[in-house]
Amino acid sequence: MSPLPIPAPDPLPLPLPPGTLKALLLVTFTLHLMAVNLGVGGSLIAAVHAFRGKEEDRDLVRRLAPLLPASVTFAITLGVAPLLFVQLIYGPFFYTASVLTAVPWLALIFLLMAGYVLLYRFVGSVASHAFRAFSGILGALLLLGVGLALVNVTTLSLRPDLWAAHAAASPHGLRMNTADPTLWPRFLHMVAAIVAVAGLFLAGWGAWRDHAYARRAGLRWFLGATASQALWGTWLLITQPKPLLDLLLNANTAPSLSLWISIACGALALFMAIPASQKGAPAKDVWAPLGLALVSVLGMILLRDQMRDAALAGVGFQATALPHRTDWLSLGIFALTFLGVVVLLVVIFRWAAQPDSSEPGKELS
Ligand code: HEM
Repeated sequence: MSPLPIPAPDPLPLPLPPGTLKALLLVTFTLHLMAVNLGVGGSLIAAVHAFRGKEEDRDLVRRLAPLLPASVTFAITLGVAPLLFVQLIYGPFFYTASVLTAVPWLALIFLLMAGYVLLYRFVGSVASHAFRAFSGILGALLLLGVGLALVNVTTLSLRPDLWAAHAAASPHGLRMNTADPTLWPRFLHMVAAIVAVAGLFLAGWGAWRDHAYARRAGLRWFLGATASQALWGTWLLITQPKPLLDLLLNANTAPSLSLWISIACGALALFMAIPASQKGAPAKDVWAPLGLALVSVLGMILLRDQMRDAALAGVGFQATALPHRTDWLSLGIFALTFLGVVVLLVVIFRWAAQPDSSEPGKELS
């Protein structure tokens, strides 16, 4: 068998120890994903409620819509940091995959711009009371297409064994990573999670602002999307390459522990959300499923990272073995910029948390 065509790592040493870069990757990726949940998942939910068009739905959309463009902006800005960290740590895999699937990869920019324009059109129409629900739904689907472009590159970067056949089948980088059976279940698993967390955020907002309809609608979105994970999650599990599947099913490994703890927290959140979504349930019943579901998401983010390292260890790559020389200046500049983003987030959160004086009757149902 000929050796796999994996480029050598960059000869320049990493600017920080690999473990520190990995921690920064995980933190910034988590922030990125939370903003994606709010902005992209929130857009889909808002557009569907705008489509339903009942008065209680229109009220919900009017309150939700102003948050959406800013959340998508944060999703994009907070995507840059993990992009840089992924390139630093996993450069030979990430760059090769993005070149091999260049056209779907670069389509990301156009999907993002088109989705963003449609989102603005939708949000503008809400302000003028002439809801353009179709623009909102199409915009959210295009933004989810950005997610597909990322899943496509991520999955291909983990399968160097598919690269030669991929390049031979599509020398101009037109093809997606459809030879990998994990592509579609991974994407659908992510979409369901994005919608579920957006639903929980809506429910949390409803509980906090004493808005019963938002609370119940958000929990119903969470319930539907999370129940569908029985399908997408199982599909994703059984399509894993054999060594990774063994790792997940062997209860003694760290990835297996992450998987089963996350599933247990998600399932518990699901069962607790059922009574909490009933009419007349106390608002405080939202917090336990919200907390458990967030623990489940954090566990899945960790699992995703553990599985990447396991997949690449199978082809002889160890991120921890990469040489490094600490560059304190770059670290200082990054820390200051990151602090600035955190302060900005806190300011925006406090602004959004101010009581809304235009809310005469909050309880709609
Ligand atoms: C707004 C639309 C976006 C959506 C819906 C989205 C969604 C996602 C999803 C679902 C993943 C996980 C992929 C996987 O594990 O297979 C992901 C990863 C990632 N996203 Fe985004 N994303 C968006 C925008 C962006 C943008 C504009 C950037 C860059 C500026 C970005 C940077 C990243 C990076 C670097 C990763 C991979 C991190 C890693 O491998 O650890 N994303 N995104």
